[in-house]
Amino acid sequence: MDVGARAHTHSGSKPSAPTAKPKAVPMDALILQGGRPLSGRVHVSGAKNAALPVMAATLLAPGQHVLRNVPSLADTRTMARVIERLGAKVEFTDHQCLIDTTNITSLEAPYDLVSTMRASIYVLGPMVARFGSARVSLPGGCAWGPRPVNLHLEGLDAMGASLEIDHGYIVAKNARLRGASIRHEVVSVGATAQIMMAATLAEGTTVIDGAALEPDITALGEVLLQCGARIEGLGTRTVTVHGVKSLKPIDTTIIPDRIEAATFMAAAAITGGSITLEQCAPDHLRATTERLTEAGCLIESERDQLTISGPVRPAAVTVTTQPYPGFPTDMQAQMMALCSIADGESVITDTIYLDRFTHVPELARLGADIRLDHNVARIRGVKSLQGAPVMATDIRASAALVLAALVAEGETRISRIYHLDRGYEAMDQKLNALGASVRRVKE
Ligand code: UD1
Repeated sequence: MDVGARAHTHSGSKPSAPTAKPKAVPMDALILQGGRPLSGRVHVSGAKNAALPVMAATLLAPGQHVLRNVPSLADTRTMARVIERLGAKVEFTDHQCLIDTTNITSLEAPYDLVSTMRASIYVLGPMVARFGSARVSLPGGCAWGPRPVNLHLEGLDAMGASLEIDHGYIVAKNARLRGASIRHEVVSVGATAQIMMAATLAEGTTVIDGAALEPDITALGEVLLQCGARIEGLGTRTVTVHGVKSLKPIDTTIIPDRIEAATFMAAAAITGGSITLEQCAPDHLRATTERLTEAGCLIESERDQLTISGPVRPAAVTVTTQPYPGFPTDMQAQMMALCSIADGESVITDTIYLDRFTHVPELARLGADIRLDHNVARIRGVKSLQGAPVMATDIRASAALVLAALVAEGETRISRIYHLDRGYEAMDQKLNALGASVRRVKE
């Protein structure tokens, strides 16, 4: 972008106070009749957690970007709205997202959007890198406790962003990013993506030590490379980014969603069914495959397909969440649903999010026997669960309740299902096509 346009963008942005209220969310519920083994083939959608940073990365380069295989989800639509508010044009049809970032007319990502999806903070790094200035609402907490963004802010500050917090907003003014050496003691997916994006246009070299290895991060790095970024060490704990003057627009296909795939694997496991996942990445599913094999599942994969057959009754397992390639925290709740009907006592420890257990009391309403001690859950498998009204509390907790409801005797009504819709595309329809009985109703 030329200097004139840059100056215009700055002066044209007069951020208003964060007064807008979050929009009312439609309160759909799901009603499931349990007890049907699932069988058939299911198509895995594009990965939410890969699509979100790539959508934000379009802000790095002016022009027309093409993203294919973008999942149609509440969260990807929220990211589209955030980018639109900045002045970009977004056309989102049939899993293709066309984003024109030529004219950015605002530098503010407002509270009403950021508060509905934390990943909106991904626009911060690209905006500061391209324009020097940005005003992005702090995301606040989440359903299962505090989720800090200090590593995002410290990383950008180390690169010269001089961020300030002003009335709940992160504000950068007239910054010129330069390369920096950044060390993460805690592996952070979001902070790695944030810093990697910002570093592509910084002056000089940025080294991120302790980088995340999640496939979403590697995929983002590869997209940036295709746009002309200079990045080394992708897929390792040390990622080096040499800043370049400008990037070309993005033209890419989003990788398959490993968490959606793993959730369907758990659906086969819990119902004793047999499911073939199409267009998935079996390599990204190794940790889940290992634990489900221990639980008694038979799993075979070839290229982009994976077939899983569940046992009559799963065996108890021990699971500890870890950064990739370890077992994902995003599968912890779903694994707990499976363990609740396993033969024996399972132990699940979440080392990433110590408080991510809002599904425990809801699973207990369905008859699960779970004792929680800090971040360690001991689950004594019961022979059967019983349907009951329950409430979804976040994306993966909702998925866990759906899994439990698939085997619970009788009817389970899961309210506040908008959480599920944030991260799973048409899950009710996909499950029905596999033989489940799932009905969506308005509350
Ligand atoms: C991403 C995923 C989310 C997943 C999580 C962990 C997206 C959009 N979301 O979230 O689905 O559950 O990775 O795999 O990709 N932390 C800090 N300071 C920070 C940032 C993180 O201390 O600034 C800590 C967190 O509290 C947590 C750990 O780092 O304990 C990992 O969090 P992080 O990888 O950053 O999660 P997200 O990127 O928010």
